[in-house]
Amino acid sequence: MCGIIGYVGNKNAIPILIEGLKKLEYRGYDSAGIAYIKNQKIITKKKKGKIKNLETSLEDDNSNIGIGHTRWATHGKVNVTNCHPHTVGDITLVHNGIIENYEKLKNELLNKGYNFKSDTDSEVAAAYIDYLYKQDKDILKVLNSCKNYFKGSYALGIILHDKDDSLYALRKDSPLIIGISKDGNFIASDMPAILKYTNSYLLLDNDEVAVLTKNNVLVYNNLKPITKKTLTFDYNEEESLKDEYEHYMLKEINEQPKVVKEFITKYIDNKQIDKLPNLKKYNKIDIVACGSAYHAGLIGKYLIEEFGNIEVNVEIASEYRYKKLFIDNKTLVIAISQSGETADTLACVRIAKEYGVDTLGIVNVVASSIAREVDNVIYINAGCEIAVATTKAYLLQVLTLATLAYNLAHDDKQNDFSKLPIILSKLVKQNYYDLAKKIAKQEHIFFIGRNIDYAIALEASLKLKEISYIHSETYAAGELKHGSISLIDKGRIVIAIVTKKSIADKTISNIKEVKARGAYVVLVTLKSLNITSDCYDEIIVIDDICELLVPLITIIPLQILAYEVAKIRGCDIDKPRNLAKSVTVE
Ligand code: F6R
Repeated sequence: MCGIIGYVGNKNAIPILIEGLKKLEYRGYDSAGIAYIKNQKIITKKKKGKIKNLETSLEDDNSNIGIGHTRWATHGKVNVTNCHPHTVGDITLVHNGIIENYEKLKNELLNKGYNFKSDTDSEVAAAYIDYLYKQDKDILKVLNSCKNYFKGSYALGIILHDKDDSLYALRKDSPLIIGISKDGNFIASDMPAILKYTNSYLLLDNDEVAVLTKNNVLVYNNLKPITKKTLTFDYNEEESLKDEYEHYMLKEINEQPKVVKEFITKYIDNKQIDKLPNLKKYNKIDIVACGSAYHAGLIGKYLIEEFGNIEVNVEIASEYRYKKLFIDNKTLVIAISQSGETADTLACVRIAKEYGVDTLGIVNVVASSIAREVDNVIYINAGCEIAVATTKAYLLQVLTLATLAYNLAHDDKQNDFSKLPIILSKLVKQNYYDLAKKIAKQEHIFFIGRNIDYAIALEASLKLKEISYIHSETYAAGELKHGSISLIDKGRIVIAIVTKKSIADKTISNIKEVKARGAYVVLVTLKSLNITSDCYDEIIVIDDICELLVPLITIIPLQILAYEVAKIRGCDIDKPRNLAKSVTVE
């Protein structure tokens, strides 16, 4: 979701901005733009669509200072006018976030004679800063006062046409980091945007204002200069290369055995499991997350309840944040997030903290907002995940929850961790091309399952729909006859997941019901369940592993299937339409 890059230094800013925007592409965007200063004038270039469109429209030029932006439309259509940077008077800015009170501010400014070209809240922010700047020519004071006027979330990168040596930044609840190098300094939404130049960075906190010049970065809190810790980003450049893979998603699916093995080596083989938080002291756990992370949480619920004997409530973060909570000092709130920046999940962490309950983050991106704000964090260490549709981070979220459940259970029958990377390595090499061809022709498809199989089905269905654009629904198998079974007609593909032995017969009855109505059933099951062939039209059989770890292997064929279907349909697999990797607005 919206990406920001900015640079001031000895080098030409223009290629740095374009390179940086390309590295932020994975966040999701629909238009892009840059602005730089040349002879005390702001030059702005914007284009709808891909960054390539912007890049090819640029003439040879040179500037030592500039800002760039990838826009993921929130206020106003996808068009060049709404695209950032926005200039109003002396102020040119890029914005990530939402200024919630922009209509009120806009009315105020209209009364003062300001006019607006775009429909965006960001142009209003630029105009408001310009308005304040016209009253008090001290830009630092003006930027520091923004917190008194702007409601909502914002990361802002700002340049002024007559200050060609300074780049300004401020943030509240939207990510922004500051990169430091000997050839100049950067602002960016995320480290990959600037890693080509530096891995030294500092984190800007809420309500702080930064002033970057080519040799210096000054950060102010309430106008007082403060000292920030310089951090080093631990990163392997190769991680972000596609290598021989056609898509990042395929690469990330294939990385799963390796990242899972690393996790197991750390916590199980090297006996570091005691370093994980012990959940025994809690009566209840609330898990909050969005999308696939929510699905991982659902799996965690079944595992922790079954093997750890603690009640777990899983909620979509955007719902949890607005509901009445029943939590006390015996409750743990777990926030699961790959990016660590998902606005709704972050809001839940803050609410939980207001209630004074313990918070635990299961996070991938190191030093992200959620990781910094929770009381305790477990990093899943999935490495850089570029494809918008998560695979390896989801798997490690599930593995983390399974490990927490195992830690509670101390049941050796559930310790098949060493088998896991071996089975995964075998599974990621499979293909399901013939089945994918059949699915690719469908307009609607259904997934069914019970209990943990239902949670796996939800994730499999999301993976398929988000990258192939096929309408896909998941039903708890027992719920079908309460309405949804009327959707089943001849040839309708139903993917049924049956791995939980104790209730396999129940799901099989539901499968027979849909088969009797003409459904084409694809069964995903374990070898040991030996389900008879009258129950399916096609079958995907998975090797057995202890019950605790079954969800980790069952999802793999379904990730591959989703990938293959999307490829047959010619979809933009790594960057599906309308989606953003990091959802930093509510
Ligand atoms: C789907 C997907 C999303 C994310 C969701 C939460 O493939 O990736 O549903 O899981 O947007 O994102 P994080 O985990 O960054 O909080």
